[in-house]
Amino acid sequence: MSWSAAAHGAKAGTTIMLSRTQVGIVGAGPAGLMLGQLLHLRGIDSVILENRSQEYVIERVRAGVLEQATVDLMREVGVGGRLAREGLRHDGVYLAFGGARHRIDMAELTGGRGITIYGQNEVVRDLIDARQASGRPLHFEVEDVSVHDFTSGTPTIRYRLNGVACELTCDVIAGCDGFHGITRPAIPADRLRIFERAYPFGWLGILAEAAPSSDELVYSLHERGFALFSMRSPQVTRLYLQCAPDEDIGAWSDDRIWSELDARLATNDGWRPNHGRIFQKGVTGMRSFVAEPMRCGRLFLAGDAAHIVPPTGAKGLNLAMADVYRLAVALEDFYRSGNEARLDAYSERALARTWRAQRFSWWMTSMLHRADGDNPFDFRRQRAELEYLVGSRAAMTSLAESYTGAAFDA
Ligand code: FAD
Ligand code: PHB
Repeated sequence: MSWSAAAHGAKAGTTIMLSRTQVGIVGAGPAGLMLGQLLHLRGIDSVILENRSQEYVIERVRAGVLEQATVDLMREVGVGGRLAREGLRHDGVYLAFGGARHRIDMAELTGGRGITIYGQNEVVRDLIDARQASGRPLHFEVEDVSVHDFTSGTPTIRYRLNGVACELTCDVIAGCDGFHGITRPAIPADRLRIFERAYPFGWLGILAEAAPSSDELVYSLHERGFALFSMRSPQVTRLYLQCAPDEDIGAWSDDRIWSELDARLATNDGWRPNHGRIFQKGVTGMRSFVAEPMRCGRLFLAGDAAHIVPPTGAKGLNLAMADVYRLAVALEDFYRSGNEARLDAYSERALARTWRAQRFSWWMTSMLHRADGDNPFDFRRQRAELEYLVGSRAAMTSLAESYTGAAFDA
């Protein structure tokens, strides 16, 4: 429907496209796309609005570790086929320090739980395919997205699509637009409490055309700083190095990257990562961030829009999936029976999982990274913590439980 605009604050004579949906979703990252799919399967209408292009969203290289619950959810919503064929299931993980690698057998310690390596960009690609097959709206490259009237009356989302001003009226808005999105900042400051910690380091990450030289991930503490060995496929290795948060990637030639990775990862048994052509590199800062509550009226925040964890615990994508699963079940109750109890409990319950992930991610990060102000005492203390960890079944079980993650609950 199109409408003349005077009542909407637009210039006289402007045409505004008016439309309606049940759930307006801002952001087509893992959270927004998975929410759209969960709602679709429950017969609930949604419109997904994304300000980037489809190519950009699919190509963006980020997470790689899926908890069992995320893998199960992908399968349950009908997008698990390629993941089952191409995902790399890992039962264990290595911690390296003092020149040796120590394996933690997560499956044995947790009654069979493991993780699966499958790139976030593949998750996003599978979810976009499913959305497009469903025929439900997913708009890329929308501009000037803003959210209105979510504390009173009927929430609306305004945006421009192909140069046309649009207004979408919704029952509920889902803010799935990541840390730099517009939904969280639209909440009045006195309705949110922010908890935050920035870390004095970042990660320099690369993808290389090299067969992984270990079947499982290696997290390494070295005097020169943290390093992580991961992978994407039998042909591609993913590697990270602790660096300054504002590190100039231009100062890192491929040779310098490999020699630093070798220095921090190689162990006395002769193990080191295979080298190959580096075809992607980037630097990411690290922070812990939580916005409470994850709801303001009829606006619900999910995923990175509400919380950020440092990547050392590999929790961000999985938390985003846990949030939208919870939100979808709550919306199903709301539409089936008008029962808002789950919607009312959403924030508190999602925050409980978030804080558990924050605790774990902070602990992994502080155990494995070297900060500028650290002295030799701190390094010895970190080594002692790692020694204790790999020597104690109780401590290894604790790590394995948190790393593989609990089942999603509603
Ligand atoms: P996002 O992926 O940020 O998606 C938000 C979407 O909203 C984006 O597509 C964005 O373009 C869009 N958007 C933003 N603003 C607007 C707007 N105004 N209008 C419309 N759309 C908008 N997590 C793990 O679980 N395991 C890992 O191994 C892991 N490793 C990581 C490694 C790195 C280097 C990094 C950076 C992150 C890692 N993470 C990991 C974290 C994970 O990538 C994020 O937690 C995850 O992307 C969160 O998903 P999301 O959908 O909430 O947010
Ligand atoms: C990755 O493979 O990208 C990855 C693995 C483990 C992490 C973070 C990122 O903790």
